[in-house]
Amino acid sequence: MDSYDVLVIGGGPAGYVAAIRAAQLGFKTACVDAFERNGKASLGGTCLNVGCIPSKAMLDSSEKFEMLQHDFAEHGINVQGASVDVAQMLKRQSGVVDKLTGGVAFLFRKNKITSIHGLGRLVRQDGDAWIVDAAGTEVKAKHVIVATGSSPRALPLAPFGGHIVENSGALTFTEVPGKLGVIGAGVIGLELGSVWRRLGAQVTVLEALPGFLMAADDAIAKEGLKLFQKQGLDFHFGVNISKVEQDDSGVSVTYTEQDQEVTARFDKLIVSIGRVPHTQGLGADAVGLALDERGFVKVDHHYRTNLPGVYAIGDVIGGAMLAHKAEEEGVALAEMLAGQAGHVNYDVIPWVIYTSPEIAWAGLTEKQAREKGLSIKTGQFPFSANGRALGHGDTRGFAKIIADAQTDKLLGVHMIGGGVSELIGEVVAIMEFGGSSEDLARTVHAHPTLSEVVKEAALATDKRALHM
Ligand code: FAD
Ligand code: NAI
Repeated sequence: MDSYDVLVIGGGPAGYVAAIRAAQLGFKTACVDAFERNGKASLGGTCLNVGCIPSKAMLDSSEKFEMLQHDFAEHGINVQGASVDVAQMLKRQSGVVDKLTGGVAFLFRKNKITSIHGLGRLVRQDGDAWIVDAAGTEVKAKHVIVATGSSPRALPLAPFGGHIVENSGALTFTEVPGKLGVIGAGVIGLELGSVWRRLGAQVTVLEALPGFLMAADDAIAKEGLKLFQKQGLDFHFGVNISKVEQDDSGVSVTYTEQDQEVTARFDKLIVSIGRVPHTQGLGADAVGLALDERGFVKVDHHYRTNLPGVYAIGDVIGGAMLAHKAEEEGVALAEMLAGQAGHVNYDVIPWVIYTSPEIAWAGLTEKQAREKGLSIKTGQFPFSANGRALGHGDTRGFAKIIADAQTDKLLGVHMIGGGVSELIGEVVAIMEFGGSSEDLARTVHAHPTLSEVVKEAALATDKRALHM
């Protein structure tokens, strides 16, 4: 029987990164992953295959089309007869995914990680090791890392299939739907709704809550709603969906909104109402792996489950369902297994929504800071007063900094605007060092760059923004 120091179940961002770091630290490591793309093994999990990467590829392609139609003329560039070739767009998307998933396979070879394609199932404890069924063959491992990720949550009234799709279906429509329904105004609803709207779909978003972006700062959510509505996304908040019926040509969705019953007809329906932990096939029940009431694997601060020698990381343990959170947990756990001080700072995890404009934040919102009884000061600066943004022709949005009123420590950063996915990194780095808004304000920022907006927002916490 093959024997390993570390066996990782799941090859997504949590699992593949844990495997690489474990191998770097000298552990004999294997990773068993069941994901298949086009009938073939494909490492990288949800993120690389059907999540982060293909969605960003489609966001970029569709944004180019949108800019060409609406923004280029202002720059003096006239283009006639532009059209969308969905097949080519999907081909490009697939090529990007191939490169990255192939890259993970390369990194496994480079780090001498044994890659096993198929299901991994905990079988039994064997002394201080575990026997795992890895794609039908039993292997032995001293440490087992469960990194089996998450799956889309289905609406009981509207099981996936036919015209009702989850993220992977929504990334592979072979033509632009005329009328697209989206249930859930969350991150997927906003990103993929934006993709198909830009390509020509009429998009209606049905959301159960009275508003959206509840985790974001109120100022950002308000600005986002205004801008997305202006683009033509048709939001309906506080809806209660009572019936979903599909036939050959599309889907009818019946819902109540402000006590009015409405039936809307769509060519396609994306259901994006969150994700659930994926533990099927893992043998959790048989070996007594403890799950919480929502099905997430229960872990302590060292990612230890209730079973000695079995650990869990990534989406399957809950918290922010983000690839970078999953990756950092993979690194931290491998380092802990090696006796090092692995650590993830959950207080400073950046969130980015890759719409146009982009939205990015980290740390506390103004409301959260006030609810904690903190005395705070805030500073805001608009892209409309930034030279580079004017040059780009995209002056939407602003940056907002929240700092402690007494100590000046940075508590939160909230941005909406072009390129904010890249701007958030510097603030996160300063927050990671426990820095202040003064630190951010005193850092020399190149001119002209969008990053000057962040500096000015930091200066604005002390009412000394220079260009406003
Ligand atoms: P996963 O990526 O889900 O990987 C788990 C892997 O384990 C899968 O390959 C699965 O097949 C395999 N597996 C499951 N059970 C078994 C088993 N028993 N045996 C063997 N293998 C098994 N996050 C971001 O940070 N940025 C983004 O831009 C972003 N965009 C997203 C867009 C979409 C459309 C979606 C759906 C998600 C997006 N996410 C994004 C979230 C991100 O994809 C997840 O947080 C991330 O993939 C979680 O990583 P993971 O390794 O925990 O799980
Ligand atoms: P989400 O949690 O972001 O949003 C789900 C939305 O659906 C919520 O607004 C919720 O109120 C609503 N909802 C729930 N039940 C409903 C119902 N019955 N009727 C109408 N609305 C309902 O989940 P989403 O968009 O599915 O994404 C899942 C996760 O994937 C995200 O939370 C995020 O962790 C990850 N993701 C991250 C991205 C990024 O980092 N850019 C991009 C896409 C996904």
